[in-house]
Amino acid sequence: MSALVTLFDKTFEPFLPESLIQEKIKELAEEINKDYAGKKPLFIAILNGSFMFAADLFKAINIEAEICFIKLASYKGAKSTGNVITAIGLDNDINNRHVIILEDIIDTGKTLSQFLPQLEHQQPSSLKIAVLLHKPDATIHPVHIDYCCFSIPNRFVLGYGLDYDGFGRNLKEIYQLKESE
Ligand code: IMP
Ligand code: MG
Repeated sequence: MSALVTLFDKTFEPFLPESLIQEKIKELAEEINKDYAGKKPLFIAILNGSFMFAADLFKAINIEAEICFIKLASYKGAKSTGNVITAIGLDNDINNRHVIILEDIIDTGKTLSQFLPQLEHQQPSSLKIAVLLHKPDATIHPVHIDYCCFSIPNRFVLGYGLDYDGFGRNLKEIYQLKESE
């Protein structure tokens, strides 16, 4: 695995090698292939962070399935209720569909815990969450995670779609902020 990566003011060290990431994603895909056979699930991948995870997972899905990509935008609500999350690009009708959300990482859980009720409102047949990474020690807004590749410590990670200030998404492995930083 490659050596240290420096971006702006931060140094990152190797954490999850490419081979392990690919192995876990294949296992997850096999589980989904079994659980969703005949159900024609609709995967909804959340951009930007999940694009590599979604691509590699979807390549290993061998049942009939659809995928779409959305972006979640957060804006200040008119009232003092904090930020409101809105989905950009969700053109598919999810009513009576088996939906699987693909997300790069659950950190605080805030984004998904705000967004999921909006999807539930459209009454899909089922709604499950598949994530590449979960930081249980950082999660303060509980989200029920159905499929997860890795539970990781509460430390900033980079690569394989995840960025630091827009950069580092192209790394094939996942890096972690260096211990001393
Ligand atoms: P939340 O805190 O669970 O709402 O996470 C929101 C988003 O923050 C995730 O979907 C990621 O895009 C981003 N994020 C959270 N933790 C990290 C990290 O360690 N590295 C890179 N992006 C992160
Ligand atoms: Mg994300």
